[in-house]
Amino acid sequence: MCGVVGYTGRKQAVDFLLYGLETLEYRGYDSAGVAVLSAGQNLHLVKVAGRVAALRERVEAANLVGTTGIGHTRWATHGAPTDRNAHPHTSCDGRIAVVHNGIIENYEALRRQLMEQGHTFKSDTDTEVVAHLIEDAWAGPAKGDLAAAVRNACDRLEGAWALAVTCADVPGQLVVTRNGSPLVVASCEDGAYAASDVMPLAKVSSSCIQLDDHDIATLHQDGSIEIEDRDGRPVEHPKTLEVDWDASAATLGGYSDFMAKEIAEQPEAIRRLLKDRLGEHGVYLDELDMSGEELAVIDRIYIVACGTSYHVSLIARELFQDWAKVPVICEYASELNYKEPLVTEHTLCVIITQSGETADTLTAARRMRALGCKVFAITNVLGSSAARESDGTMYIQAGPEVCVASTKAYTAQMVASALLGLRIAAARGEMDAAEVGRHFASLEQVPALMEEVISRRWQDKQAAAVFRNARSSLFLGRGVNSTTAYEGALKLKEISYLHAEAYPAGEMKHGPIALLEPGFPVVAIVPADHVHDKTVSNIEESIARGATVVAVATDGDERVAKLCEHTLWIPTCPEEWIVPLVAIVHLQLLARYVARSRGCDVDKPRNLAKSVTVE
Ligand code: F6R
Repeated sequence: MCGVVGYTGRKQAVDFLLYGLETLEYRGYDSAGVAVLSAGQNLHLVKVAGRVAALRERVEAANLVGTTGIGHTRWATHGAPTDRNAHPHTSCDGRIAVVHNGIIENYEALRRQLMEQGHTFKSDTDTEVVAHLIEDAWAGPAKGDLAAAVRNACDRLEGAWALAVTCADVPGQLVVTRNGSPLVVASCEDGAYAASDVMPLAKVSSSCIQLDDHDIATLHQDGSIEIEDRDGRPVEHPKTLEVDWDASAATLGGYSDFMAKEIAEQPEAIRRLLKDRLGEHGVYLDELDMSGEELAVIDRIYIVACGTSYHVSLIARELFQDWAKVPVICEYASELNYKEPLVTEHTLCVIITQSGETADTLTAARRMRALGCKVFAITNVLGSSAARESDGTMYIQAGPEVCVASTKAYTAQMVASALLGLRIAAARGEMDAAEVGRHFASLEQVPALMEEVISRRWQDKQAAAVFRNARSSLFLGRGVNSTTAYEGALKLKEISYLHAEAYPAGEMKHGPIALLEPGFPVVAIVPADHVHDKTVSNIEESIARGATVVAVATDGDERVAKLCEHTLWIPTCPEEWIVPLVAIVHLQLLARYVARSRGCDVDKPRNLAKSVTVE
């Protein structure tokens, strides 16, 4: 959580700092701040509780001039989101400023020690100890060497961090380092840049450097970057990453919000993902880096994820078990981390994570690897920790997902999982080439089916009225579409703050039916499938108790249309497992319309952040 940026060079620092923070705002948005080193070698700070837009106003009013600076957008962990707790944090003498993403776990003990030594604290954050530790090291063992002072301070830290540090006594220099939290740097003709992820850097460079844990990078005004490892040895060949994300992909491009844009981008994302994936030998998935023999002896698959990505795992389980005849266990990463998984040398672990930085998922992956499993990551963000730490990585190529609520990553991850399922099934001799080709052809129809749903968004807009005065709602679906219900309910609650509960439709009578009363909104996913009539019975049971039902149904289903208040129509899908990819588009649109009608900020819902880098 939190976004970190830094710049030193020939240009005015605030230009990149503010642009970078706007691009990284999805990582946290309860407060923001910058520190800029002026020509007179003084640090000027501007910090505000609130969004980067508020920071921009204050920075522009303050007319900050200087070519070296750091910036931060925050998702509070320690200390309320106030001006005082906003980053950067400074040393007692105000000459060292620090921004931080992560958590300093031993900050209480360090703070006590530092206060006993006479340091004065100005905030309630864990981060501030870092500024004071650097101040001590700078004056003591590091003797004016900023990189050495940062290394010395980090040796005393426990937890996770990505840090950018500037010091008024070394103008034209910035020091950055990381341990467990992401950080990339880029060396350019007009200066050197640092950011929490590649998105802000896409505008300035086509390649960037990924720092390893404990690397310390010194960025110089001429654009050069020196990297040393934790023992102070130069890192001669740091990992570089080609940045092929189009910088404009992170802009609204005419849409009113990123959620609308990202919903609309789904068909194209899936076309991109499917391109050149099928050949005469079946599905190409070289990223998996496992031989046919290894795939044939897999004894079980763990799929580990959080939130929306966990919902993808539920669909993947159905496909893997059905197609590859291999037992699958889905686990929330945060749960698996406190259990003893049953793994053997033939167990495969698949992690699904859009950001590739979710702390719980990364911890689970490390554990599974330590237990001897191969770990395969399905992720979106280039060079993310998930990609770096796994045995194989499949990028879903959905482009930057900026809206905090995941939409295009959900469907692209589902398609990636289907490709993985087809590959494993074929390798195990459970599916012949003709069947693989038939399923692949079904996937190729998805973009057009989604486009059709998007063109019917007026149906979602009308149905949103049902939720106007609601305080709660129930989402029902069966089989693969119980997952569509879970995901639809999650979208609604996270962006509209309206409670939504999801249940497999048949389970309704075992408890949730007690919630129903006149006008209570029920969303039922009832496509033309082998459980259609059973779900229709659940709709009838709901209506008998006065519920107002919004159905997602297949074109031509007049029976459902007559029963329900609103019908969100989907075109006929080639196979039942394709429906979740198409039906969810209606529920994404519905959630957005409901949220907008309630005056909510759909892109940046309260209390949330896009990547949850704390456990
Ligand atoms: C919900 C949402 C979250 C994420 C979850 C995992 O719309 O976006 O539930 O799915 O935080 O994030 P990743 O996939 O980045 O690991």
